[in-house]
Amino acid sequence: MIIRPRRLRRTSAIRDMVRETTLSVKDFIAPLFVLPGKGLKNPIPSMPGQYQFSVDTVVTEAEGVWSLGVPSIILFGLPDSKDAIGSRSWAADGVVQRAVAAIKDRLPEMVVVTDVCLCEYTDHGHCGVIKGADVDNDATLELLSRQAVSHARAGADFVAPSDMMDGRVAAIRAALDREGFMNKGIISYAVKYASGFYGPFRDAADSAPQFGDRSGYQMDPANAIEALREAELDMDEGADIIMVKPALPYLDIVRRVKDISLVPVAAYCVSGEYSMLKAAEEKGWIDGKRVMMEMLTSIKRAGADIILTYFAKDAALLLTGKI
Ligand code: PBG
Repeated sequence: MIIRPRRLRRTSAIRDMVRETTLSVKDFIAPLFVLPGKGLKNPIPSMPGQYQFSVDTVVTEAEGVWSLGVPSIILFGLPDSKDAIGSRSWAADGVVQRAVAAIKDRLPEMVVVTDVCLCEYTDHGHCGVIKGADVDNDATLELLSRQAVSHARAGADFVAPSDMMDGRVAAIRAALDREGFMNKGIISYAVKYASGFYGPFRDAADSAPQFGDRSGYQMDPANAIEALREAELDMDEGADIIMVKPALPYLDIVRRVKDISLVPVAAYCVSGEYSMLKAAEEKGWIDGKRVMMEMLTSIKRAGADIILTYFAKDAALLLTGKI
């Protein structure tokens, strides 16, 4: 007798019945970039189909995302000015703070997440304060906490620290609680690798480091055990959701983190993953829609409960039969 697994692949209805992983629009968080000004929707050259929005147009974009059934967005800010300590990152009238308030005003139910980091706000482009040739971990914690509190005050549901400083989840948790924001959550970029896949993002957010690189704080792509330690530390410090980033080149890490995690696990399918697909699609080398769904399904299959992705709208259009 031959064992015949092909029986379960015979018809589309059977395949539907036995499918193990199902993507949903509810899995997605759509990243959006906000800059000062009015009426702006500037295309990002290295990320076809992605834009930098002003506060007014980002509200319209968030409405579009929401109307497709995607429950959540994460906001990144391009400030009007930069300095050594990134002081515009915690300004009550900063772009992210104003965007959060405007989106929450129009879409109170939408899950609004904010990226918390200094690299977009510092003139040197590093994710913390510089002391000598290094990023000063402990001095940075206070500034990240200020930024997180200002986002919470503007109405954000979750803050998402992406800086990779040690102890920042605990510091931010304490600051939020102290200010009365005990119901605001933390999605920690717990396992963030020093990755070349962030290239297009650094154009989009104007956040490339002016000297050196980020390998003194982001993780070495060669390490996996360390990812488990980072994940565990952030859970202990009070992270409500932990994230692995990038996604596709680190699916083994997504799975291993998921296996030990007692909180939901998110994976960030980053700018380079998006742009690689778009470039190959533009050249006619791959079927973009098909590969997009395959990528997102594989991230979910690896163990991600939530996927941060620039494909959120396109995938939602496909999943809801609109394209
Ligand atoms: C900020 C931040 C980065 C990304 C998210 N938050 C850039 C970086 O660390 O260099 C990358 C997102 C992407 O590439 O899509 N620290």
